[in-house]
Amino acid sequence: MRLFAWLAPGAGPPDPRGYFSQQEAGRGALWGAFWGAGRGCRKGGFSRRDFKAGFQGGAGVVAGAGNYRCGQGLAAERIKARHMAIERTLSIIKPDATRRNLTGKINAKFEEAGLRIVAQKRIFLSLAQAQKFYEVHKDRPFFGELTEFMASEPVVVQVLEGEGAIAKNREVMGATNPANADDGTIRKEFALSVGENSVHGSDAPETAAEEIAYFFSGLELVG
Ligand code: CMP
Repeated sequence: MRLFAWLAPGAGPPDPRGYFSQQEAGRGALWGAFWGAGRGCRKGGFSRRDFKAGFQGGAGVVAGAGNYRCGQGLAAERIKARHMAIERTLSIIKPDATRRNLTGKINAKFEEAGLRIVAQKRIFLSLAQAQKFYEVHKDRPFFGELTEFMASEPVVVQVLEGEGAIAKNREVMGATNPANADDGTIRKEFALSVGENSVHGSDAPETAAEEIAYFFSGLELVG
């Protein structure tokens, strides 16, 4: 029963790249051989068309083997890509840190963790720009304090790049409240309070894309 199912013509469309599957190739070879043998038998000899049928069957096997190897290669590439997702995330070195001249020390933490700084600039945010950036927190009680602080002195905005950069940056930064941050993290070592916590980092791929676009044009990102 399984053999009949296997021999039946495939229901689905062929691979969009024009490859035969292993099954299609094997089926082609078998049908080609039967058709060629049947015709040769009927006529008591083999014509050019009979050879062509046999040849197409054989070509199917070769194409099938090639497709199988190609499929293995593509699967390996996909697995590799999943484990090596290079991401970009937005980072801000906040006014409490720029005021204390900590930009270099904080950047060293990023670089030691394998994050590359692919864009960076020191800017002075207006209150309106800080409010727009932190719009998602506009109903929180600390919104006023947060945005006035962010517009009080220069900040350094930067794009960090690396494998799993979003999660890695959050690991390097430590918990939002420095009292809860792990040893060795930026916030544990440098932050003054939950408000003046030295750094900001994007929390997900969608927000990273939005936050990067808020401060940088594509031309400014040099990987
Ligand atoms: P950040 O990662 O920049 O995202 C939002 C910020 O709000 C957060 O870091 C803190 O600095 C700030 N924040 C969160 N909770 C408080 C709070 N209770 N008081 C003041 N600021 C806060």
